[in-house]
Amino acid sequence: MGKKELFGTILNPTKNGSVELIKNGFVEFDEKTGKILKVGKTNSKTVKSTENVFIIPGMVDLHSHIPQLPGVGKNADELLPWLKNHIFPLEVRFSQLDYAEKVSRFFFKEALRFGTTTIVAYASVHKEATDVAFEVAKEIGIRAFIGKVMMDRDMKRYPEELPLMSRNIKDSIDLAKKWHNSNQGRLQYIFTPRFAASCTMKLLEKTAKVAKEGGFYIQTHLAENQSEVKFIKSLFERERHRVPTNTHIFKKSDILGEKTLLAHCLYLSPPELQLIKESGSKIIHCPTSNIFLQSGFMPYRRYETYEIPIGLGTDVAGGYTLSMFNCMRDAIETSKIVNLLNDNRPYPILQPTEVFWVSTLGGAKILQLDEKIGSIEENKDADLVVIKAKPSFSFYCNMDDANSILQNFIYLPTTYNIEKVFIAGKEIDLNYEQN
Ligand code: GUN
Ligand code: FE
Repeated sequence: MGKKELFGTILNPTKNGSVELIKNGFVEFDEKTGKILKVGKTNSKTVKSTENVFIIPGMVDLHSHIPQLPGVGKNADELLPWLKNHIFPLEVRFSQLDYAEKVSRFFFKEALRFGTTTIVAYASVHKEATDVAFEVAKEIGIRAFIGKVMMDRDMKRYPEELPLMSRNIKDSIDLAKKWHNSNQGRLQYIFTPRFAASCTMKLLEKTAKVAKEGGFYIQTHLAENQSEVKFIKSLFERERHRVPTNTHIFKKSDILGEKTLLAHCLYLSPPELQLIKESGSKIIHCPTSNIFLQSGFMPYRRYETYEIPIGLGTDVAGGYTLSMFNCMRDAIETSKIVNLLNDNRPYPILQPTEVFWVSTLGGAKILQLDEKIGSIEENKDADLVVIKAKPSFSFYCNMDDANSILQNFIYLPTTYNIEKVFIAGKEIDLNYEQN
């Protein structure tokens, strides 16, 4: 254990939102403390050519579901029937802990193989299985925010008895006490009320209170699908809650806030966007899932005008891969579709450098971890991904241009391999079959 150096072309997100390209770069870090000591340009004569090696910061996936990984690629109708027919039956299997362990290991290793070093994830409704997911994340060394899924009503769809509101809260608090800020701060507990359709107002209110008192993050789903939005609205109306929109359910229960991650957010009116903005909540864009489940197309640029922070998430198994590069691609393609559907076509399409920034420093910022991770800087933790380009790589791009190199990462996955992943200076074993 000592100092270690990596050499290559560095793609580094900067504080002003751009991506810096450092050719013939090096990163020196301390394997013991896990901290980056120096980043810069080498005297190119002293090192062997590293033109085909790239170094990027570990990526941040802000929304995914651990128990759903075995369910990727299963085409179905839209969100609600998909949950009922594919997803809920799969999640119920997490009551078997040896199965939960196997899937959790597969999930975290798969994310790491794609260069994701920080992931925000839903476990299942089971306390014990959530505990197992944390245990596996600890053993592997990944940075993760994990939460027990909270559901206290079944919509007559969930094939297992659901815990009561009080049990949901107690189990979550117990898990938070055990795991929050553990493994040198790499693991955090996140309160996880699934979505308004599976949570009573009481559960949402209590969750918001407990989470905010303890300074925890909260994650949930909002306005993902038109039938879902209608269903939730009628559900709360029947219970005589005075809530004009689904966002008002989260406003009324105090779920909205600086540390609240709202996945999807496709069908929001201007007043709802205003509520979200005022609350400081973050929107997590899940473009792969939005296409796979025919949910729709999130108007990224329009939301930017509200100055709401937007992050990216793979949303496995609504999304069919844990690859953030794939997610970036669908974010760009979605921005084109939004323009096509809008006669005025007023917005510039998303750029590779932008979505890469959002998937690294931007994601870290949303998690209030941007002092620690998200870019390659002195004193930050050495969360690094080494990518080796194949000979074909340079055929497709301008090696002197960050946007062009990122285009290859995003659109041409067969031209490179993700070779090594480090978290806090320690190389992660990317194998999972042997365990
Ligand atoms: N809404 C409520 N639960 C889920 C889920 O598991 N996946 C997606 N995509 N949306 C949801
Ligand atoms: Fe989701």
